[in-house]
Amino acid sequence: MKTNWADTPLAIQNLGEILQAFSDLSLVVDSGGVILECKPGYFLTPGIPEIVPGRKIQEVFSAGMVEKFEQALSISRQTGKVDAFEFSDHEHWFDARLVPISESRVIFTARDITKFKETEKRMKQQVRQLAVLRSIDLAIASGLDLNLLLAMLLDHLNELMQVDAVAILLQNPKTNLLEFTAGKGFRSSSLQYTHLKLGEGCAGRVALERQLINVPDLKANQMEFGRSPLFQVEGFVAYYGVPLIAKGRVLGVLEMFHRSKLQHDADWLGFLNMVAGQAAIAIDSAIMFRELQKSNIELSLAYDATIEGLTRALDLRDKETEEHTRRVSDITIKLAVHLGVDNTDLIHMRRGAILHDIGKVAIPDRILFKPGPLADDEWKIMRRHPGIAVDLLSSVSYLAPALEIPHWHHEKWDGTGYPDHLRGEAIPFSARLFALVDVYDALTSNRPYRTAWSKQETLQYIKSQSGKHFDPTIVPKFLSFMSNHPN
Ligand code: C2E
Ligand code: SIN
Ligand code: SIN
Ligand code: FE
Ligand code: FE
Repeated sequence: MKTNWADTPLAIQNLGEILQAFSDLSLVVDSGGVILECKPGYFLTPGIPEIVPGRKIQEVFSAGMVEKFEQALSISRQTGKVDAFEFSDHEHWFDARLVPISESRVIFTARDITKFKETEKRMKQQVRQLAVLRSIDLAIASGLDLNLLLAMLLDHLNELMQVDAVAILLQNPKTNLLEFTAGKGFRSSSLQYTHLKLGEGCAGRVALERQLINVPDLKANQMEFGRSPLFQVEGFVAYYGVPLIAKGRVLGVLEMFHRSKLQHDADWLGFLNMVAGQAAIAIDSAIMFRELQKSNIELSLAYDATIEGLTRALDLRDKETEEHTRRVSDITIKLAVHLGVDNTDLIHMRRGAILHDIGKVAIPDRILFKPGPLADDEWKIMRRHPGIAVDLLSSVSYLAPALEIPHWHHEKWDGTGYPDHLRGEAIPFSARLFALVDVYDALTSNRPYRTAWSKQETLQYIKSQSGKHFDPTIVPKFLSFMSNHPN
């Protein structure tokens, strides 16, 4: 239903005066877009030809706006209702409304909403910035790998700061040179070989002076990047260098390059400083994490070398031992994996198995190699070998969890073993599991005091010792595992 506009002559007569009350641009326009009446808005619309009666909307505004206007005009004329749209001209945003006032006329108003739009844009930007800071925080908390962290930083900076290229130079603690470590947005490898002394080049100065350097026009400062002929290929115009400082130490420099002049406001600089601060903390913690891991691996290798060195002393006395040690550690690990033991425990079990009889280094040859049964006093000495292992190795804290096996591999499930007469689950699981493997391998090997038993006889014996010598819950699993094992 259409409004009967003829009923409202008063409103139309006083329209010009009413419109004066609003700061918006207000026009009365006919169905062809010709401006009939005009009340300017209190905003600047640079570049728009004078908006005066007699001109057409189509001559005054941009093509994009005119398209939206015509669409809204046709909608509001069809429906008889207000239609609204947003448009921008130059640097301004407008909220436009079309109000039909008669069959052929509409009031067109345009309100400057640039401030609102800018606020909205800024808020969106700030939300994105917060998200970036949050992800850097998460990276710090999770001990993210340095390379992954740098890649993440570059992605975020590139997008958020709206620059063409970003590079991170880190100071090499050995050489004190700033080295290119990661980059994004470069056309050439021009900067990849960057090695700068403190004070040298832009980045060197940023690091030395510990403050941001901005070169608005690199072309006017040719010398700055003269260090690489390939740099010309990049076509960079603007440069920003920001120091990455954590705990008072300069870790490196964040560099940003743009191929045209950079337009930025106080927010942009503020965020740049903030993100550089956070990035430095994240980089610092990633470097520390990496160093820690490296030293852990080095330590671990050093201990394994020590362990192998220790067992060699025993191997030298008896060729059989070396093979025995290799076999029992191999079977122990396979069986433990089969039983679902986790990786950290596997490391300790492997070391424990290798070291299990290390205490025999202190057992005299006459006892260790005696071709017959041991006398009581000889047994007393032989039974010291687990305690000797503990005495030898307990000062090495790193090996503490690995000592369960050397200490308790001769304990028995029924409590009749040695050295502590532990019973049942009081015996650590690793030692209960290892005892099966040790006895199996001892019985199937030649000893100075007897020849080897067959695999069948040995498995039969082990089964008979279930709940006596051995943990009855492990025995069936051991038997089924060994029946599929080659030796
Ligand atoms: P080992 O030879 O490595 O034996 C490890 C374990 O396997 C023994 O712990 C025992 O539980 C089992 N085992 C080994 N051989 C036999 C066997 O012939 N019969 C039975 N039933 N079980 C066997 P155990 O008994 O505490 O012995 C610890 C270590 O003492 C042995 O290590 C070995 O070095 C030494 N030893 C044990 N018995 C004798 C012996 O009669 N003469 C000599 N010279 N040494 C012995
Ligand atoms: C040996 O010392 O005779 C071999 C080592 C072992 O059986 O555990
Ligand atoms: C020991 O006390 O014998 C070493 C520590 C351990 O086995 O857990
Ligand atoms: Fe032993
Ligand atoms: Fe053994």
